[in-house]
Amino acid sequence: MSGKAESWGSRVGLILAMAGNAVGLGNFLRFPVQAVENGGGAFIIPYLVCFVVMGIPLLFIEWSTGRYGGRYGNHSTPYILDTMAKGRIWKYIGVFGIFTNIAVASYYCYIESWTMSYVYHSVRGTFSTMNQAEIAGFFNDYTTIGKSTTGIPYEAIVFYILCLLLNTFILSKGLKGIERVAKIGIPLLLVFGAILAIRGLTLGTDGASDLFPDANAWDGLNFLWTPQYDSLANPKVWLAAAGQIFFTLSVGMGTIHCYAAYLKSKDDVALNAVSAGFMNEFVEVVLGSLIVIPIAAGYLGLDWVLQNAGFGMAFQTMPYLFQQWGETLAIFAGIFWFGLLFFAGITSSLAMGTPWMGFMRDEFNWSGKKGAWSFGLIALIMGLPTVFFFQQGVFDEYDYWAGTVSLVVFAFLETVLFSWIFGIKKGWAEINMGADIKVPIFFKYLILVVTPLLLGWVLVASLPDMAAKIANDDTNNKEWFADAYYAEKFDSEGLKTGVVDSVTTDFIKLSFQNE
Ligand code: PHE
Ligand code: NA
Repeated sequence: MSGKAESWGSRVGLILAMAGNAVGLGNFLRFPVQAVENGGGAFIIPYLVCFVVMGIPLLFIEWSTGRYGGRYGNHSTPYILDTMAKGRIWKYIGVFGIFTNIAVASYYCYIESWTMSYVYHSVRGTFSTMNQAEIAGFFNDYTTIGKSTTGIPYEAIVFYILCLLLNTFILSKGLKGIERVAKIGIPLLLVFGAILAIRGLTLGTDGASDLFPDANAWDGLNFLWTPQYDSLANPKVWLAAAGQIFFTLSVGMGTIHCYAAYLKSKDDVALNAVSAGFMNEFVEVVLGSLIVIPIAAGYLGLDWVLQNAGFGMAFQTMPYLFQQWGETLAIFAGIFWFGLLFFAGITSSLAMGTPWMGFMRDEFNWSGKKGAWSFGLIALIMGLPTVFFFQQGVFDEYDYWAGTVSLVVFAFLETVLFSWIFGIKKGWAEINMGADIKVPIFFKYLILVVTPLLLGWVLVASLPDMAAKIANDDTNNKEWFADAYYAEKFDSEGLKTGVVDSVTTDFIKLSFQNE
């Protein structure tokens, strides 16, 4: 344990840092895609149920667990869990809370680095002379290492390293650095998001699109928000909903343990946990569903959106659609959109670095600088496969194991620890200690019974899916390739220049049929 422990500068700083931790690329890129792929309105009910019965309980558990461990001078999951139970095993289980972060950071920062590059290209007006196929092709060339895009050799790698350096630099400044970035980033993100969302909504019904006369932004929203009850019995939808809730709230990873470990022992956790959770949900269900889907549906139609859900919507379609707003507005829209993604991303990736740093400081007395640089280096080494083999689907593999399965496994284990080993009595007292709100008593029983059972069920029910993954049964991978396919199609049909706009309708339909 090191001498003087750090703590958060102010409550506002803490809340923004925690909100920054939660609000991330998951809200803007992962949520709309998950929602579309799982039937829109069919996804929303399980999603909201999972938020209440798993999300909020786990926020309570992780905030109070973290503060509890921090009281004993521990700032990383292995030693935090070790303070809660006898026996070594929990310390080793706690390694999840460090490793998962580094693994997720390694691919998460890669996407974050795209957003930096796309801000740069928006400012330079790179997209302003390109047609739809060229903008789609740009993304594919960019992510195919070795193909040159706009003259920067190995551009994807250059921006990836820049992005890691930036993260490392900020992390080396400690909690102060994180707070400062959150204080700038989160308000800007909200402003950019609001502007784009209003624009999305006002695309309206008036044939905003010359490309597709019957395209309508509201179709996209209706699709998302008209509840459908028939798929409630489908476990796949529930798994996707639970996975999204974990990822988006940053639970099951150890980052919340770590942030909460820097609380003072009398600080509130109950209200803070709920506020950060609701802030994330606001950004996710309001801003996250008011940008990509309505804008894409407004120009290209709902069918197109349903068939093209994926990264492509954000990185291939959006820059193209912004061009429809005129050259100057397109530049601003690009800065707003990719800037928003960048701030969402960096405030989350910073969080992923802190457990490792806390661990090395507590146990080996490493300085913040040493901790930060070693984190950057490990993330770089682990991330290179996703950079070099992105087009081969390595990214998906990482996101599945590190970004989904391990969150659920660890969340299950820590809930069992909290409720049954540490004991719900002590646990409930921890949640309520110093609390600024009265937590409804039914959460006690949720945490004791419902949350662990549901988590256990989610795990068991996803075993077949995991087996399919291990057996390399690829059917689920298709989504990530749909966009690449779509762009290649443009190329091979010789439509790369000139006339794409006028033939898009039939052309996209055609590529669907071939799939
Ligand atoms: N919650 C973040 C998002 O929505 C991702 C994240 C997961 C961040 C785990 C930190 C820890 O993008
Ligand atoms: Na989130």
